[in-house]
Amino acid sequence: MAATTAAVLFLAVALSAAVESTAETTTHIKVYWHDVVSGPSPTAIQVARAPTTNSSATFFGAVVVIDDPLTSGPDLNKSTPVGRAQGTYISAGKDKLAFLMNMNFVFQSGRYNGSAVAIMGRNEVFSAVREMAVVGGTGVFRWARGYAQARTHTLDLKTGDATVEYNLYIKH
Ligand SMILES: *[C@@H]1O[C@H](CO)[C@@H](O)[C@H](O)[C@H]1NC(C)=O
Ligand SMILES: *[C@@H]1O[C@H](CO)[C@@H](O)[C@H](O)[C@H]1NC(C)=O
Ligand SMILES: *[C@@H]1O[C@H](CO)[C@@H](O)[C@H](O)[C@H]1NC(C)=O
Repeated sequence: MAATTAAVLFLAVALSAAVESTAETTTHIKVYWHDVVSGPSPTAIQVARAPTTNSSATFFGAVVVIDDPLTSGPDLNKSTPVGRAQGTYISAGKDKLAFLMNMNFVFQSGRYNGSAVAIMGRNEVFSAVREMAVVGGTGVFRWARGYAQARTHTLDLKTGDATVEYNLYIKH
């Protein structure tokens, strides 16, 4: 009996060691993030604001919920869909336009289908390159950590619609 228990324990330890020793890899993913605020079917909707938000040059206090399409190329209509960016961004800069991004990149095609990475960080949208933290992940991205770099590809100042190139560097 004791020998059997010991054998089972040994197997359990050996198995968990095998799982933990899986080599860590670094994955680079480039996607285009489309914030559609205009038109009949926006993917970014403002859900809250402060009484002072409308008179703030930086929209300070606005809370936006997003389910933004992610595509492999910059053209929303012609590029291959890759997944969705779901979460919120909050205008958290009183004197300078800067959003706090809090979103999951949910992959829905290819080898990462069903996996997600969680991104949180400061997004000073008029800077050329904004860096945010990859704080975790699920599926193939379990234990993920890393960073994302965002670069505006197009911004329509009339509608507010934006396409942003995201480069993710993920250790997992
Ligand atoms: C702020 O602007 C929005 C439209 O953009 C409007 O619906 C809302 O009533 C305004 N809020 C205040 C407090 O003026
Ligand atoms: C994509 O298609 C929609 C209508 O389906 C159109 O309103 C929009 O301008 C198109 N965008 C681009 C970048 O072609
Ligand atoms: C992604 O995975 C889901 C669930 O397994 C599946 O239904 C779907 O067809 C897959 N999508 C692609 C584009 O492979």
